[in-house]
This record gives sequence, structure tokens and C-alpha cells, in this order.
Amino acid sequence: MATYAEKSRGDGTLQNGENGIPLLVAEDIIKIYQTGKIETQALRGVSFKVHSREKLFLIGASGSGKTTLVSIVAGITKPTSGKVFWKDLSKDITRSSLEEIIKARRAFAGVVFQDSRLLPHLTVKENIELAGFYAKVPPRIAKKRAEFLLQFLGIWDKRNKKENTLSGGEKKRAAIATTLITNPRILIGDEPTGDLDVVTAESILDLFDRINEELGIALCIVTHSQQVAARADRILEIKDGIIIGRHGKEVILRKLDESRLLEIDRQERIVLPREILQNVKNPTHFTASTKEGKIILNPVFDPNLYKNNIQDVVTCSVCGKLVRDNARFCNSCGSTITNKKGTK
Ligand SMILES: Nc1ncnc2c1ncn2[C@@H]1O[C@H](COP(=O)(O)OP(=O)(O)O)[C@@H](O)[C@H]1O
Ligand SMILES: [Mg+2]
Repeated sequence: MATYAEKSRGDGTLQNGENGIPLLVAEDIIKIYQTGKIETQALRGVSFKVHSREKLFLIGASGSGKTTLVSIVAGITKPTSGKVFWKDLSKDITRSSLEEIIKARRAFAGVVFQDSRLLPHLTVKENIELAGFYAKVPPRIAKKRAEFLLQFLGIWDKRNKKENTLSGGEKKRAAIATTLITNPRILIGDEPTGDLDVVTAESILDLFDRINEELGIALCIVTHSQQVAARADRILEIKDGIIIGRHGKEVILRKLDESRLLEIDRQERIVLPREILQNVKNPTHFTASTKEGKIILNPVFDPNLYKNNIQDVVTCSVCGKLVRDNARFCNSCGSTITNKKGTK
């Protein structure tokens, strides 16, 4: 099946008339943070899609790249390379101007952060209406929608209160209302219940379910909470900047090996779980063959492998392509080659 990139023209504009296209598509996202001389490869080629009305959650250990990934697909952070498509915009947002992104995001995505980001000197209702004003929602529509959201989210009684008199759950509901004032197609959240106690988190999660089911808004949520993950339609697991597999509702975050379905990514990479490698004494090379529809990987422990013809190439740690050991930059993705032989 043709991908967004294949359907798109050279200028990044998507051709019209496509049916059933996903809501959000991320293709080959690479993100390298440069802090002085230190490079951090936060994302090493990540691709995924979110479909209309879907509940997609992203899980992974701290530092695996989750926050970076959602802020890129929300159009807040620019990737080093890769493409992001939002349905209706018909253009790769990584090639769009900030003005275009802000305008398109109003109709497309609501973003929920861990903290509420309400203005403390305004009431809940004023905060919601102000969000509508900034998003250029006509005042009459904003007023009506704010009233609907206050009721839908169960904070009608709190509409004239200011942030400092609200509980954690009420602040969260008010913050969600500010993001829903534009009637977006998707709610993107980075650990949205991470700061709440278990009972309050449960009530906010019920709310996310209702937002999804009754308002038809897709969810793309980062979490490392078991409580949250069990509610997903589909869970993607990210590790060291690569999506390594998917899980279903039965996921137990402490036992990911039991529910993980390994996934080959668009660059035809597959990440073997460390436990499996340890079971066969951590080989660095395999022969690969197929038998009766199965792939057989046979470990090879030959010391000559390290002396002979692989001596002058190394694997680019960002995109995984082979490059000459004496190269300073990767031919494929342009990142600095740091893993030269004889160096650490
Ligand atoms: N602004 C930044 N500058 C430099 N490094 C960063 C920055 N943001 C994140 N990182 C690094 O990128 C990696 C992924 O971080 P992050 O996306 O926050 O992961 P997660 O949300 O899964 O904990 C980490 O190694 C982190 O230290
Ligand atoms: Mg994070």
C-alpha cells in the first residue's frame, strides 16, 4: 500500500481525494539534540499512524523518547528529519511555517500536559473562553461550547472559581476543556494523569474514554502507568528511540516480554529483546535462513569475523545504515559518526 510520502508530491503536498487515510502519520522521525558538543539521539527513525477515533498509547522507560515523539507529532518540536502528516492539512508539517502549524493545530489537535497551565487570575470559564479567543473561535460559538464542555467534563459548578481553589482533578478537567474548545480531531497527551492520585486518575481516564467514545476524538497518549495502558486499543512500545513492538489491552508494564509483538519498522529493523540475546550468550552475528515459514537466526561466534571484511565499516547509531569507519558523517542520515572502531 502506498504511504503518505509516496502519495505526496515532491513539495510535500498530499494529493486530494484520498479516502480512509489515517488522522496522523509519522514517518522515519529522527531527532538529535545537540547540547554543546554532546549529541543525544532521542529518536532513531520512528514511524506510526493514528486512525480516526482510535485510542493509541505509547509506553517505554524514562528517556526512551516518548515526550520528544509526541511533541514532534503535535507540531511543537521540529524533528531532525522525517515527516509528519495531519489529516486535512495535506502537507508535511515539518515543512510548514510556525504560523501554518499553529493555524492547523487549532482544528486538529488538543494537547494536554502534566501541569494544568491555567491562568491563575482568571476563572475556569474565562480560561476556556480565552483559549477559544486565542484559537480564533467566534465568541458566540466559544461561549456555547465552553458551557457544553463545563457540563460534559463535570465542572459546571466550578465555572466561576479560580485555579487556586480547585482540586487536582478539577484543574485537569478545566485544562482539558481549554484544549477541546476548538473541537479537535485528536487529543495528544504526555503522561496526562502522572501528577494525580490513583482515584482521581481513574476519573480522568473515564473522562478520556467518554471524550473518545461520545465526542469521537482520537487519543494519542504517552504513559508509564499500568492504570492508563489497560485502556488502549493499541499500545506501541518505544525503546532507545525506536518503536520495538506493540501490545494489546492485556499488557502488564512490568512484564512487557509476555505481551510484546515485535515489529519490523519501515527501515526493516527488528529489535531483539535483551533476554533472548542473553539466553543464547549475546552473539553479535547470526546467519539467517527460513524454514517452514519461520525465520531461523543461528548465532555465529567466529573471532575471524572481527578481523576480516567488516573491519572498515561501522553501523550508524542513528539510522542503522553501514558507513565507512573513517567517515565523519553518515551518508544516509547525515548524523555524526561517534561509534568508530577503537572508540567508545
Ligand atoms: N531539550 C533536550 N536537550 C537535550 N536532550 C534532551 C532534550 N529533551 C530530551 N532529551 C534527551 O532525549 C532523550 C529522550 O528524552 P524524552 O523524549 O524526554 O524521553 P521520555 O519522555 O521517554 O522520558 C533522553 O536521553 C533525554 O535526556
Ligand atoms: Mg517524558
